Amino acid sequence: RAAREKIVIRSAYRALRPALFSLPAETAHRTVHRALATVQHTPVETLLRDRLVVDDDRLAVDAFGQSFANPIGVAAGFDKNAELPSVLGALGFGHVEVGGVTAHAQPGNPRPRMFRLVEDRAIVNRMGLNNEGADAVGERLRTSPDPGIPVGVNVALSEATDAADAPADYRYTYERVADVADYLAVNVSCPNSEGMRELQNRDSLEAILGELVDAGAEPLLVKLSPDLPGPAIEDALAVVDDFGLDGVIATNTTTDRPSGLQSPKRAEKGGLSGKPIEEGATEMVRFVAERTDVPVVGVGGVSDAAGAYAKIRAGASLVQLYTGLVYEGPTLARDINEGLLELLERDGFADVEEAVGADL
Ligand code: FNR
Repeated sequence: RAAREKIVIRSAYRALRPALFSLPAETAHRTVHRALATVQHTPVETLLRDRLVVDDDRLAVDAFGQSFANPIGVAAGFDKNAELPSVLGALGFGHVEVGGVTAHAQPGNPRPRMFRLVEDRAIVNRMGLNNEGADAVGERLRTSPDPGIPVGVNVALSEATDAADAPADYRYTYERVADVADYLAVNVSCPNSEGMRELQNRDSLEAILGELVDAGAEPLLVKLSPDLPGPAIEDALAVVDDFGLDGVIATNTTTDRPSGLQSPKRAEKGGLSGKPIEEGATEMVRFVAERTDVPVVGVGGVSDAAGAYAKIRAGASLVQLYTGLVYEGPTLARDINEGLLELLERDGFADVEEAVGADL
């Protein structure tokens, strides 16, 4: 019966998808967001949890002092204001990274600012870090019931703050979420916020991460752009090493437009995510994992078990996704976790942790 109900959930999404895709992308996102919020903490959430959580010790991962029941998480940007961690856990995700959160509430860029490249299984977005701000998000996390999965907070630079004042701006947000974040992800790689990616240079990284380390932030991870050239990645990793950071998230969206994109929406300005960035992101996971001992979180284009497994074998201890969820729907975490178990068995690994970095 469980299998049949899973198929029902999947077919329901397949049936609904054309209607959702007929809406502007952000409207569709808000519709799904609202639907998930409506079922959260209700018997429907329990039903989803029963059907979609894959409970198997072989999927468990310990990373930066946290225990994850499975390696598949929701990437930053899907739940910017930390409204959905519990129901995302019920969909079978092992963690969620909420945010990006900034010190000040901000509206983001004018709409439209999110575009589906359907032919390419991709999205371009230039949301510009719309969010309710650190005070509101911290308060929501503090007053919400325990979601049952680790919740990381993705922290970004406020639009109104000059790069020179970035360390204090990041610290403000950290202090608002310090007691409720299971890890902190320092986002210096959003392509839609003026000047933000320049914060990935060594001096800026040292100033920001130094401030957060002083403030006691732990576990502390940094999220990098796929557009960083090799030497700049190496510089960033040197800072990770110097400051004793706990992990690296690779990667954010790219401003690059690979040749071969079919959708006319490729001309929209913003960060590209989804299938077209999958291989590049996996290569960056490998590049980073070869050069650091801290856990790597692999993100970019994952939409099936084979893709998640490729990132794990390339060195990712955890895998996140966003765009895949839009195209594949709410059974994706379960499909990936079940598929991972088959792939582990096929290749003779006892568990996920044994497969991490197998290709290095
Ligand atoms: C994002 N992403 C993102 N990343 C981040 O660090 N902070 C953020 O606020 C956001 N916001 C955001 C909004 C939208 C609409 C999208 C599509 C993406 C990037 C995201 O976390 C991830 O790194 C990339 O999307 C690549 O993964 P996928 O989508 O290919 O699985």
